[in-house]
Amino acid sequence: MTLHENESLTELVEEARALLGACYQKDPSHLAAAPGRVNLIGEHIDYCDGLVLPLAIDRHIVIAATPNGSDKARIRSRKDSEVVLCLQSSPQPGAPSWANYLRGILEGFRLREIWPVPGFDAVITSDLPIGAGLSSSAALELAFASILESMVQTVLDPREKALLCQQAEHDFAGVPCGIMDQFACSLGQRDHLVLIDCQTHLTELVPFDSRDLSILVANTMVSHDLASGEYRKRREETDRALKLLGKQSWRHVLPADLEVIETYEDGTLFRRALHVVSEITRTKKAAKALRDKEYAVLGSLMSASHQSLRDDFEVSCPELDLMVELADQIGPAGGVLGSRMTGGGFGGSTVTLCHSERDHEISEHLSKAYEVQSGKSPQIFATRPAQGARLL
Ligand code: GLA
Repeated sequence: MTLHENESLTELVEEARALLGACYQKDPSHLAAAPGRVNLIGEHIDYCDGLVLPLAIDRHIVIAATPNGSDKARIRSRKDSEVVLCLQSSPQPGAPSWANYLRGILEGFRLREIWPVPGFDAVITSDLPIGAGLSSSAALELAFASILESMVQTVLDPREKALLCQQAEHDFAGVPCGIMDQFACSLGQRDHLVLIDCQTHLTELVPFDSRDLSILVANTMVSHDLASGEYRKRREETDRALKLLGKQSWRHVLPADLEVIETYEDGTLFRRALHVVSEITRTKKAAKALRDKEYAVLGSLMSASHQSLRDDFEVSCPELDLMVELADQIGPAGGVLGSRMTGGGFGGSTVTLCHSERDHEISEHLSKAYEVQSGKSPQIFATRPAQGARLL
């Protein structure tokens, strides 16, 4: 079985109820779910004022909580031992590191004077793979922020909530991410992709409701780590390139402008810039292709995006390239429209657009061929655009 079935949201909720009962002998009074995300196109340009086109996926993190009458939050998951957070003072980053996302969200509420938060007990369940480039951290942030909203009876604007979560990731997890993940996990809608203008923070929901198309996510099982130096390095390189180009924003840069940086740093900055400028154009074209239901065009833009990320931006890895190459070999004749790495890269997952009637077959083939050639057993599943973070 290669096409992993989605553990339904209902099952995650039931599991959370049972876990809360077993750990804290209580029923939940607050329940929240937040999805992961997959980016169809527009990679590594959310921190360059670019346009990105992700979707929230039907894999979630669920939090079940109930007040405990104290000034502490006690939180645990299926695997992790209990974390106790004091709600009287400003939280500081610390161990265990996964709890830093929670500490950062609490700090975001405190800074916005949505405070104090009453003490509570909470448990976390999830069917979202961790370290697979599917934004499990953004999903955790958004689910936790939603629980806190419910606890303090305040409703944040979904954009504001996404920005609060991004800040938590910057300040408490040390990851200098852009806004794509938190926006997608917050603003996603069923049967829609979210076109995000990362310069203005405006979003457009682009329908993706054709039942003839499937989005396949293939986890290479190479764990990626955004806190590692390469992500930060790409941010620095693109900042440096923009300065040298003498422009305020990447949205003002034309391909012809890039000539002036051609010789800098052995051509590295030129190649980084070429990716940014071409990926912004590709994403605009992809959104148009999607609106016009020109799916073959969309697929070739995805393939071009992968090549640019592999050769010019250099954020792919042999396993991502292999998975994409295997999908490309199947090609349109076998039902594959386009395939590319998705997310931060250096591991994680690929996203493949294909015809639904062939998705099982494609997934079987990818899984077998990838395992033979890489020695790793991938996790492949079909997904559909799902609703963003919400209370249940
Ligand atoms: C990670 C970051 C995002 C974005 C992608 C690359 O997922 O969290 O902000 O930069 O990488 O597109």
